[in-house]
Amino acid sequence: MELIEQIKEKARKLHKRIVLAEGSELRTLKAAEILLQESLARITLLGDIQMIKEITLREGINISGAEIKDPRTDSRREHYAAMMVEIRKSKGLTKEEALESLNNPLVFGPMMIKAGDADGEIAGAINSTGDVLRPALQYVKTLPGVSVVSGVFFMLFKNKALGDNGIMVFADCAVIPDPDEQQLAEIAVTTAKTARSIANIEPRVAMLSFSTKGSAQHARVDKVVNATRIAHEMAPDLMIDGELQLDAALSEEVGQLKSPGSLVAGKANVLVFPGLEAANIGYKLVQRLAGAEAIGPVLQGMAAPINDLSRGCSVSDIVNMVAITATQAE
Ligand code: ACO
Repeated sequence: MELIEQIKEKARKLHKRIVLAEGSELRTLKAAEILLQESLARITLLGDIQMIKEITLREGINISGAEIKDPRTDSRREHYAAMMVEIRKSKGLTKEEALESLNNPLVFGPMMIKAGDADGEIAGAINSTGDVLRPALQYVKTLPGVSVVSGVFFMLFKNKALGDNGIMVFADCAVIPDPDEQQLAEIAVTTAKTARSIANIEPRVAMLSFSTKGSAQHARVDKVVNATRIAHEMAPDLMIDGELQLDAALSEEVGQLKSPGSLVAGKANVLVFPGLEAANIGYKLVQRLAGAEAIGPVLQGMAAPINDLSRGCSVSDIVNMVAITATQAE
């Protein structure tokens, strides 16, 4: 069974409560109809209730079964505002400011999760990554023991000889522009867990650089060497190797020549890039030039799953992302 089908099957069983914060956006409404038809999640749409009803009537979209909430008038506003004031008391947030920001569905959605009224959220079809992520980071925050949220892509290849049965995981392609060595180590360890829990693969993690085992000297190489060491300390059982160039990570021949005896070199299925520029460009190169399907970014490290869509997303991208979000909420 294809990865996305496995994820959907799992989501169906979990039946989680997922918030679609951009509730009056057309692709989102079409996705909500499919999600409800296929019983992939319980759906809450945020937005102007009258407007949502008008759009669905006009477009012939059936969302009966979805909960619709208007963040500007919802009965939970006072409760959420009190929680926000408490969470942001060191920042001096006032109740009035909290109530004002709750008008924004991108704040209201994370607060529903924080209050236990929902299990996960997605947005981003009409909002930037930063605007989706900021309230999530401020109020939902990270998992215990994790200090950074990062984003992975599942790269699905037609050639099943690549990665694990055609699946590879790339990180961090979405969040931290220039991770330090500690953050890079955390990204590696968290990505390995995500690879296991969502893609069912046993991770072999390559810490990528422009150098393999000391072939070049530079502060950027040192960062990857140190990150690899820290990741080893954090997860001693994890199969991880670095610093590796991409060919050493993927080609058995080059890998064994440059990092002999490595359990990862030549057979990596998780690629951790040294920074966001390389990762974001890298996944798009593989998607555009190698024709791989890129599923993501799937955010990891957050205390509850909140995922960001691309503004060019399709209806089926939204459906898939809700299914992934639901499985992350397990
Ligand atoms: N993990 C955990 N917490 C974080 C992280 C992180 N990665 N980044 C920021 N935070 C926290 C901060 O500590 C801060 O907390 P506080 O307010 O309680 O002190 C809060 O989040 C807000 O942080 P700021 O630094 O004020 O927020 P900023 O405006 O820098 O936003 C953001 C952070 C949005 C993640 C930023 O790093 C960003 O824009 N990253 C790039 C996103 C992007 O454009 N990606 C490429 C597109 S996606 C794609 O193509 C697939």
